[in-house]
Amino acid sequence: MKKELPVVIDLFCGAGGLSEGFKQAGFKSILGIDVDKSALETFALNHAGAETICGDISQITREQIAKKINRDTVDLIIGGPPCQGFSLAGRRNPNDPRNKLVQEFLRIVREFKPKFFVIENVQGFKSMRDKSGKLVIEIVKELAKESGYSVKPYLLNSKDYSVAQKRRRMFLIGSKKKNVEFDIKKTKEVVVGDLLFPQETIAEKYFYSQRLIDGFLRRAKRNKKLKRGFGWQFLKMNDQSYTISARYYKDGCEALVKYDDEFKAGSIRKLTERECARIQSFPDNYKFAGGKIKTYKQIGNAVPPNMAKAVAKSIKRILNS
Ligand SMILES: C[S@@+](CC[C@H](N)C(=O)[O-])C[C@H]1O[C@@H](n2cnc3c(N)ncnc32)[C@H](O)[C@@H]1O
Repeated sequence: MKKELPVVIDLFCGAGGLSEGFKQAGFKSILGIDVDKSALETFALNHAGAETICGDISQITREQIAKKINRDTVDLIIGGPPCQGFSLAGRRNPNDPRNKLVQEFLRIVREFKPKFFVIENVQGFKSMRDKSGKLVIEIVKELAKESGYSVKPYLLNSKDYSVAQKRRRMFLIGSKKKNVEFDIKKTKEVVVGDLLFPQETIAEKYFYSQRLIDGFLRRAKRNKKLKRGFGWQFLKMNDQSYTISARYYKDGCEALVKYDDEFKAGSIRKLTERECARIQSFPDNYKFAGGKIKTYKQIGNAVPPNMAKAVAKSIKRILNS
């Protein structure tokens, strides 16, 4: 008989980058929850058989989830609760809007008692403190301990996990087993030059106009005088990309392709949506719903699947041991 894969709930699932990594490591996402309709559509397109709930997680009850997935427990809960200027001040107060989403994540953990949980967040999460000066991570650890979990933090950079991008992320892995270390193994390096499409295949709309280039050059000159950053960054083909953010759709100035040093129209361009997806390590058959801007946003918001896969594999090894 075929063995059932360990099942996962993905909270704040977005486009499903985190789930994709777990899927590639042999887990199965059975539910994605997000408030953004098109991100959820992307999740559904790529995670066949998974249920979805569109809505604010704080309004979604245990019963609603249990009914959707037809179970009361799961193996794993994963997700990246957005942190709005993060503070867990007043952590005992579930109505405090600042700590609401992490609290909600931990509420669902309490309700579905997974063997493990994974909270993904920005690297700054590591040093965030509440109003009283207490580290947020310590507060999460205490709250998780009350539900029987021990929590280990891991600060990772996606470039170490076959992602052609530098992106630092914090992973908190909660486990019912005490004193487990998760051995998140590094994988081979990938660079931008391996992933870009040839210049002649790129549509004109991705190239900067002369007007835009001249505007950036003026700004660069001004900023140099003021000893500020230049305002645009060019990719190095033999290195990883700068972090692709959810704002990339605007002018893409955080990571541009420059073909020569002439600064003429036709020599500088943004990355296409598919190139951004590749730089985030999404497979080429990953589909995105919602049009150009939403696609860039979903990609910029995502956890690179290859980084998620390395985390997932470390959990799988413990699960199987
Ligand atoms: C950083 S993105 C998640 C990326 C995702 N883990 C991935 O790998 O593709 C955060 C997501 O949280 C969702 N979100 C924000 N507040 C929410 C809430 N109150 N309830 C449900 N989803 C929410 C956003 O719509 C967004 O898609």
